[in-house]
Amino acid sequence: MPDAQVDAAQLTELAAGIAREAGDLARLRRAEGVLLAATKSSLADIVTEADREVEALIRSRLSTARPGDGFLGEESGAAESTTGLTWVVDPIDGTVNYAYGIAMYSVSIAAVTGGADPDAWTAVAGAVYAPALGELFTATRGGGAWLGGQRLAVTTHTPAGALLGTGFGYDPATHEGDLATVGSVMPLARDLRRMGSAALDLSYVAAGRLDGYFERGLKPWDFAAAALLVEEAGGRVVRLDTASARPLIIAAGPDLHERLSQVLDK
Ligand code: IPD
Repeated sequence: MPDAQVDAAQLTELAAGIAREAGDLARLRRAEGVLLAATKSSLADIVTEADREVEALIRSRLSTARPGDGFLGEESGAAESTTGLTWVVDPIDGTVNYAYGIAMYSVSIAAVTGGADPDAWTAVAGAVYAPALGELFTATRGGGAWLGGQRLAVTTHTPAGALLGTGFGYDPATHEGDLATVGSVMPLARDLRRMGSAALDLSYVAAGRLDGYFERGLKPWDFAAAALLVEEAGGRVVRLDTASARPLIIAAGPDLHERLSQVLDK
């Protein structure tokens, strides 16, 4: 690449434009009434017709703009990269919210180098767009994290306890363990949110709206873009137990990250 910094900024611009178009389509389909297309791993793990249509739009826009790039999407699977760059896409993160008419859902698009494995990739550009909230979060490696024109920074000081976000797996067999994890961090918390879109949870950590976030079992497309946002906002994102079926992600400013890790890394 002639100038990685310029290229990364261009990738962010591309991701942001496509995320906006895709999110506006999702919002339109929501207003028209949502059709459930299928349930996936469990009754809570649903896919709507809109998930598939929105992912198809994103995939087509990306392949027109950057033929040869790889693709990893929640609904339509993977394509190998011939350029070294791969797009990691969640067309609607927070599908249950979307299906129920709750505004906390988002389109997440990330550009990564190093392949489609989160343990090996480097995210270089990302966009998370929440169409029902009218908010577009973007990040470029080395270029900061942004909400529109406002530069983002994680919180660094949580004297009254941390406002934490989390999420739960869809498989009922995981609920007991996830609730025990919540119980173990509550002594550090002033309060807890379960908002239903991991991409937005992480974007909110980047924006200082949450002090920290943790969840087991996220898929790569849930966090690819928003983990870069947290890092570019001065925070840390660490994935533990990566060899297990349900790796644990912890995201926060450096001090809180350390304290959360002490409790959760057992
Ligand atoms: C889900 C959301 C949710 C999180 C789940 C994810 P989806 O993504 O991010 O907040 O708790 O783990 O699977 O299925 O709506 O794209």
